[in-house]
Amino acid sequence: MDRILIRGGNVLRGDIHISGAKNAALPLMIAALLTDETLTLTNMPRLADVSLLRKILRNHGADTTLAGKRAGANPFAGDTVRIHAGEIADTTAPYELVSRMRASFWVLGPLLARCHQARVSLPGGCAIGTRPVDFYLKALKDLGADIGVEAGYVVARAKGGLHGARIVFPKVSVGATHVALMAATLARGETLIENAAREPEVTDVAHCLVKMGAKISGIGSSTLRIQGVERLRGATHPVLADRIETGTYAMAAAMTGGDVRLTGARCDTLDAVLPVMEEAGVSITREEGGLRVRGNGVIHPVSVETQPYPGFPTDLQAQLMALMTRADGVSTIRETIFENRFMHVQELARLGADIRLNGDTALVHGVDHLTGAPVMATDLRASVSLVIAALAAEGETELNRVYHLDRGFEALEKKLAAVGADIERVSG
Ligand code: UD1
Repeated sequence: MDRILIRGGNVLRGDIHISGAKNAALPLMIAALLTDETLTLTNMPRLADVSLLRKILRNHGADTTLAGKRAGANPFAGDTVRIHAGEIADTTAPYELVSRMRASFWVLGPLLARCHQARVSLPGGCAIGTRPVDFYLKALKDLGADIGVEAGYVVARAKGGLHGARIVFPKVSVGATHVALMAATLARGETLIENAAREPEVTDVAHCLVKMGAKISGIGSSTLRIQGVERLRGATHPVLADRIETGTYAMAAAMTGGDVRLTGARCDTLDAVLPVMEEAGVSITREEGGLRVRGNGVIHPVSVETQPYPGFPTDLQAQLMALMTRADGVSTIRETIFENRFMHVQELARLGADIRLNGDTALVHGVDHLTGAPVMATDLRASVSLVIAALAAEGETELNRVYHLDRGFEALEKKLAAVGADIERVSG
């Protein structure tokens, strides 16, 4: 199993190219199941989750191709992936595949909308909380599906197809919004989705669906209105830049007192994050086509609570906590989206962090210095918080179970090494 070794203390300087967003790329790929024409996605990130989802889509009968790179092209420029689901050969998404990536459960929406039936394994447990699927099932029932759960599988049928409905989510859910939106595009009549997720990745998918011929209004707001159409067509769509990767490298740069330009980043998707960093004393310059982050070695404490977009993202909570371990005071970080999303706390403590948990709130007492140690990645965002802490720690940190990182961060060690980090991947 691969490990990452980091010797802390180097100041990060230079440019980091921001990849396409994992959380947009995955539902965009799934949207390809809605049409028998080709969906071409550009600016695709190179991630383990993308490869796994290609495999899952092939299992349903879709052809997927990855365009080769030209010699001399920027090694971090995105891939082009073409997905052609001319015919759906199989409407079952098996446990072996769905259990490896929760987002693959979302195929339920397009399969049901297009084939009027689907059998998709429940995603099962997850390290960051129980993550139920009740909102998805209720939304699909509202759209006219018969839903049952048999032997760990959701079995959904809609004889004669789905029909429009009013769907009101009791709580904001990114995944349930994706599924309801995709299903509604091919339903008969009008669908209204209230309390829809407004995450930029949802908006990106909605824009792609419109290119495919879907009729959606209210994009970017919490009420989506969809007029169902008979069929969707192929389209070409660039994947939105990854705001979580952007925020992660911004915090890494700040942690080392560095000066880093994040090229390709979309500042407009980070409205709740950049002001928090500025409050912490980090200098942020919003530029055309990216942003520049400069730290001066002093980090001030902040008080933050995670919220659905446009609030502070739960996917940057662990990284912010890593940054605050070196603040000159006490920070308060409250997690309101997922219970049990504090697994990085114990590992950060191994590096010398002083974090006290009280229910859903962490009190982070800034310390003078961190010290390298062997640590374990527990989930995607938790593991990258350990990288941030290790970059500022004295001595060497060995990060184990890095497959978590590979799921969501493209070429992390290469991107960080290129701006001066002492970081290497050790295989085996
Ligand atoms: C997505 C993101 C993930 C991010 C999360 C919240 C992807 C691939 N993943 O995950 O990175 O951390 O949004 O921004 O885009 N809930 C229910 N019942 C349901 C569905 C959700 O109670 O049927 C709850 C969840 O337990 C959680 C909250 O709703 O407390 C929000 O979860 P949700 O937005 O659905 O997260 P995901 O879509 O799984």
